[in-house]
Parts: sequence; C-alpha cells; structure tokens
Amino acid sequence: MQLRRFGPRDLTRVYELACNSLSENYNPTLFLDLYNYWPEGFIIAEEDGQTIGFIFGIMMSRTEARILMLAVDPKHRGKGCGGVLYREWQRQCAVKGMRMIALEVRVTNQVAIRFYEKMGFQLTGRIVKYYSNGDDAFRMQLFL
Ligand SMILES: CC(C)(COP(=O)(O)OP(=O)(O)OC[C@H]1O[C@@H](n2cnc3c(N)ncnc32)[C@H](O)[C@@H]1OP(=O)(O)O)[C@@H](O)C(=O)NCCC(=O)NCCS
Repeated sequence: MQLRRFGPRDLTRVYELACNSLSENYNPTLFLDLYNYWPEGFIIAEEDGQTIGFIFGIMMSRTEARILMLAVDPKHRGKGCGGVLYREWQRQCAVKGMRMIALEVRVTNQVAIRFYEKMGFQLTGRIVKYYSNGDDAFRMQLFL
C-alpha cells in the first residue's frame, strides 16, 4: 500500500468511497474546496494502482485540526490501512503546528470509535442530533 496526496482526478473514486462508507450526503465540491484549502491534509491510500482509502480534514484554528472524513474500502479493512492513513495525516497536522485533533463520530459506529481509541483519542462529549437522520455524535479528541 502506498500513500499520496489527493488530486482532482481522484474525485470520482473518492466520492464513491465516501458514499459507500459514510451515511451522510456530501456535495462533491466540498472535496475540492478542502483540497484547495489544505492539499497536504487530503491523503489517498492506493494498492495496485487503485484507491482503497482516504482521509481529510481542516485546520480550525492555529492549533486545532479536525478530521472530516476517513474511509477504507470494505474489502481492504482490518489490514492497517486506516491506521497508516491516520498517522500520516497526524504527521501533517504536526508539521502545521497543530496541538489538538478533534472529530465527531456517530454514537452507533462502534468500529470507528474503537479505531480512534486505538489511535489515542478520548471521548469528550456527546452532541445530540448531530447527524441529518437525528443520530447523536460523540466528540473525540487527542492532544499532540
Ligand atoms: C474506521 C475505518 C477507517 C478503519 O479502517 P481499517 O483500515 O479497517 O483500520 P485498521 O486496520 O488500520 O485498524 C486499526 C485499529 O482499529 C481498530 N479496529 C479496526 N477495525 C475494527 C473492528 N472491526 N472492530 C474493532 N476494532 C477495530 C483496531 O484496534 C485496529 O487495530 P488492530 O488491528 O491492532 O486490532 C474503517 O472501518 C472504515 O472505513 N469504516 C467506515 C467509515 C467510517 O466509519 N469512518 C470513520 C468515521 S468518519
């Protein structure tokens, strides 16, 4: 598996992965806007020339970054890809001087909660009706 920076030609595949893996509806222009804002913060994982996962986020302030999306193709889960993507993204946060990473995760998404706990995140709160279907979110954070 190899990591590289997202490029506009990856949009179709990344959008497909997002729609298959995540329950919210996304406007494809969001991906390009975020890429233009922080290109190093949008990372793709490839295997045999195929995109199998991605992560991106934003810098909320001079010290706080936030993960917006992380997804690995179901066929490639449980083999370390998500961890490798996350650690590289965390490294990019450190390069930018970020001191804290935050995220929201659906309270029912036990796999992602376990994943983020393994990466060192702690649960810090619950946001009622955060998602469009009325589901609550847990807020998680990690200090660098
Ligand atoms: C969350 C997600 C990105 C993890 O990717 P992955 O490549 O499967 O994760 P990894 O193989 O790197 O796993 C790293 C650790 O996470 C935890 N983990 C991963 N999958 C797990 C599962 N099914 N059950 C419990 N823990 C799990 C484990 O602690 C694992 O470490 P270990 O292999 O040493 O036990 C992936 O499951 C996914 O795309 N889910 C759908 C989208 C999503 O929910 N994204 C996050 C919310 S934005």
